[in-house]
Amino acid sequence: MIDGNGKSSIIRMFHVHQNYGAKRALIDITLDIAKNEFVFISGPSGAGKTTLLKLFYLAESVSEGQILIDGINLSRIPFKRIPFLRRKFGIIFQDYKLIPTRNIFDNVALVLEAAGKKRRLIQKKVRSVLRLVGMEDRQNVLPASLSGGEQQRVAVARAIIGDPQVILADEPTGSLDSEAAKIIMDLLKGVHIRGATVIIATHDKELIRTTGGRVLFLKQGRLEGSAFVEKHYDGAIY
Ligand SMILES: Nc1ncnc2c1ncn2[C@@H]1O[C@H](COP(=O)(O)OP(=O)(O)OP(=O)(O)O)[C@@H](O)[C@H]1O
Ligand SMILES: [Mg+2]
Repeated sequence: MIDGNGKSSIIRMFHVHQNYGAKRALIDITLDIAKNEFVFISGPSGAGKTTLLKLFYLAESVSEGQILIDGINLSRIPFKRIPFLRRKFGIIFQDYKLIPTRNIFDNVALVLEAAGKKRRLIQKKVRSVLRLVGMEDRQNVLPASLSGGEQQRVAVARAIIGDPQVILADEPTGSLDSEAAKIIMDLLKGVHIRGATVIIATHDKELIRTTGGRVLFLKQGRLEGSAFVEKHYDGAIY
């Protein structure tokens, strides 16, 4: 799928609505995200940011409209293909969501174990991604003995270990101080430079200003606009 700029799309949405009972969480969303874009989904609390991300990786099924992921129509995907589709995504949450009873190595290894990879390869890849996020010295400890920023670095390692095409991050710095947040954003920029599409849901305008990228702005379930924000831009974003 080619968009107006000649880049192929990784995500396309056509007139998507998402309802929870009478609650209209997303209203008539049409958007296009190109491969290797760095995009923020922004807007106030309750605007529908998390809901949008959930639709991409099929954590929710869409009420109305069409979603294409890398050309695959989600409403037509056979049930048994869903795990393969999910492997296109690496997902990062505000609260890290590491498994408390597994050590750092095992938390990260789980993704490749679930994909049936060989033990030797798993060991090599886990060491390499933990080195990338600066956590190789802590692989034998449990998540509880790490700081929030360190846990999120492990969560980044877990998100990227399967070489996903798309990283979805839902308020990834929402629980971190500015120094830890910068480390996480630098890691996500690095993932983007190495070829992934990075989509970050955040209500934090400062984070957008200091990082730069395309911003899709949601308000009360509607897509109100899309703009490119330069790094260190100091004007109003919306
Ligand atoms: N499972 C659900 N059942 C009912 N309502 C829901 C459900 N999930 C989300 N909503 C509602 O849909 C709207 C959008 O929620 P969503 O979590 O996507 O917002 P958000 O932009 O991520 O907000 P925040 O910045 O607080 O995380 C909200 O009004 C929310 O209450
Ligand atoms: Mg949210």
